[in-house]
Amino acid sequence: MLDAIIPTPTLETLQEPIALRLAEVQQDLAAMVEADFGAVNEVSDYLLSARGKLLRPTLVLLCNAVGGRPAPEAVRLAAVVELMHVATLVHDDAVDHSPERRGMPTVNSRWSHQVAVIMGDYLYSRALVEITDLGRVDAVRLLAEASNRMSIGEMRQLAAHDALGATEDDYYLLCDRKTASLISAACELGAMYGEAAFREPLAAYGRDLGMAFQITDDLLDYTQTADVTGKPSGLDLREHKVTLPLIAALPRLDASGRRAVGDVFEDPHPSEDKIDRVVNLVREAGGLTYAEGKARDYADAARGRLVSLPDEPAVRILDQTVNFVVGRHK
Ligand code: IPE
Ligand code: IPE
Ligand code: MG
Ligand code: MG
Repeated sequence: MLDAIIPTPTLETLQEPIALRLAEVQQDLAAMVEADFGAVNEVSDYLLSARGKLLRPTLVLLCNAVGGRPAPEAVRLAAVVELMHVATLVHDDAVDHSPERRGMPTVNSRWSHQVAVIMGDYLYSRALVEITDLGRVDAVRLLAEASNRMSIGEMRQLAAHDALGATEDDYYLLCDRKTASLISAACELGAMYGEAAFREPLAAYGRDLGMAFQITDDLLDYTQTADVTGKPSGLDLREHKVTLPLIAALPRLDASGRRAVGDVFEDPHPSEDKIDRVVNLVREAGGLTYAEGKARDYADAARGRLVSLPDEPAVRILDQTVNFVVGRHK
């Protein structure tokens, strides 16, 4: 999206300086999920066989390094945060009836909804046990509170009776709860175990970054194909989820355009054609451009949070991470 303005750094470039520690994060993750029951291990192994972007552990490690006092616990902390994230993805895919994630069938589609509920709980509780072992009740509380907010965010989305009546502010509140809360917690936890003076600006950075991240995710649902993102495109509309591109486009649609949107939202299983029509209407009405602008605003805000921090490599990568988040294709 931002290609024309600022070149988007690749994930590999951002993660190159911490590649070894990210490999340790993955080893820790594998050890953390090990259970004494084969069926649980089967699903965990399956889940860990597809590596996501590892954005949240990357943020834990980078934020922990700001100020030059990286903690020995940072790798485990990063693994815990990724574990919590994977738990929420397993539940989210069941809630969203999504068939695909990270280019593979989801737990709910490969096994069942029941297995997804149980495995989400299993991974979530593993994350809490592991962070408790690190011995800081303030860290446990921070992560548990983030997870609590995420649940309320997911419920907010599910319980929106008049989905098409959602305002832009409703949407931002939702993004804050369901996504920015964990991304901010990742940054704040990293800082808590590192240089505590940077805790506040880094938590605020994570919040703004998380907003830009979710707006971009919602854009990708409109603009990208499943072979690029590894998850189905157009799923938000199919699941009757109103995101920023549609909120911005709705007041600009004529009566026939509004009817086409209403039609998708009244149809329990809208066809590809109906979805495509709405995607085109949203694009033509400027909904995508509007959302891109808002993602950029949050990205600018995130970058602004870094100005009080020392000019050092970790901070420079955090700055680049903002460009990655809004410029990515998956
Ligand atoms: C997906 O998160 C869930 C959202 C908050 C939109 P990611 O896009 O970070 O998923 P992975 O971990 O890279 O698969
Ligand atoms: C983010 O929303 C979900 C979580 C915070 C778990 P989405 O439902 O848009 O995420 P994806 O698109 O399924 O990854
Ligand atoms: Mg989803
Ligand atoms: Mg999405």
